[in-house]
Amino acid sequence: MQIHETVNSERYLTLRARLDNGLRKRLTHSSPSLEKLYNAMAYGVFEPGKCLRPILAYSACEAMGGPLDAADGVACAVELMHAYSLIHDDLPALDDALVRRGKPALHVAYGESTALIAGDALQALAFESLAQPSTVSVGIRLQMVAVMARAVGPAGLAGGQFLDITLAGARPTPEQIAEMQRLKTGALIEASVVMGAMASGANVETSHFVALRKYAEQIGRAFQVRDDILDVVADPVALGKAVHADQPADKSTAVSSLGLEGARHYAWQLLQGALTALEAFGPEADALRQLAHVVVERDL
Ligand code: IPE
Ligand code: IPE
Ligand code: MG
Ligand code: MG
Ligand code: MG
Repeated sequence: MQIHETVNSERYLTLRARLDNGLRKRLTHSSPSLEKLYNAMAYGVFEPGKCLRPILAYSACEAMGGPLDAADGVACAVELMHAYSLIHDDLPALDDALVRRGKPALHVAYGESTALIAGDALQALAFESLAQPSTVSVGIRLQMVAVMARAVGPAGLAGGQFLDITLAGARPTPEQIAEMQRLKTGALIEASVVMGAMASGANVETSHFVALRKYAEQIGRAFQVRDDILDVVADPVALGKAVHADQPADKSTAVSSLGLEGARHYAWQLLQGALTALEAFGPEADALRQLAHVVVERDL
């Protein structure tokens, strides 16, 4: 299953339109001298990403009974943060990738220094998107800022990227790889679900909320496992980025530690875990169920 097939493509297009509208507002500017920076940021944000994280945020908000508009700030925040992470991930100092989303990577198109700064600026915009006044109460917005900070800091994405670099060529255990993957990729996906659910106003102490966290952890892990599999089996044109990049860089991945079939089986187990976590939910969580399938079955 691919992401545009989730629930129905009409819903996906509606959510994408909401998201694009919010992102465009957050990326408008009036300063001619900053035009190139804003253009670089827009280059990194728009053009066809799957927008999985915002779709998860909207779907988690709905699963907890919240209105879609409550999740607008979260949806924009997680996509802006994700865009920053890809821009920095592709830099020569990290993965040195030349193609992203079927186009030259940002540092190739705009230069390394602009790419670095555009990433920094997008990260700041993501926090602004969470914090700015909305229908979500100020107390919840503050909690969401804390959730996001944890998800992308040293105990999250930044720490995971550090481990990704330090574990390259180091023959880590499968557990060490799983931990690195949970931090570099899982943490932001988990936060997307958790913050989407928080935006609904639902009590974070309920068993339903705990179940959503469990679901989010499983799909967050599964997402990077599938990414590692796609590096070996995908069509680079459809994928929009280079394939066969992990092994030459001696990256420690789900495939390097478990083999291709082992990684597929692990992703399948994570999918089952995610679906089991949602057992107490009814049809209101169908979108989340479908998205779990997307995470492990996607070809792009
Ligand atoms: C790629 O993320 C980077 C990882 C965390 C593995 P996506 O596959 O969600 O990238 P886009 O946004 O669809 O391009
Ligand atoms: C990316 O992992 C994790 C991030 C936090 C961006 P990868 O380095 O495997 O992602 P791709 O394959 O370049 O998209
Ligand atoms: Mg990387
Ligand atoms: Mg990379
Ligand atoms: Mg990868």
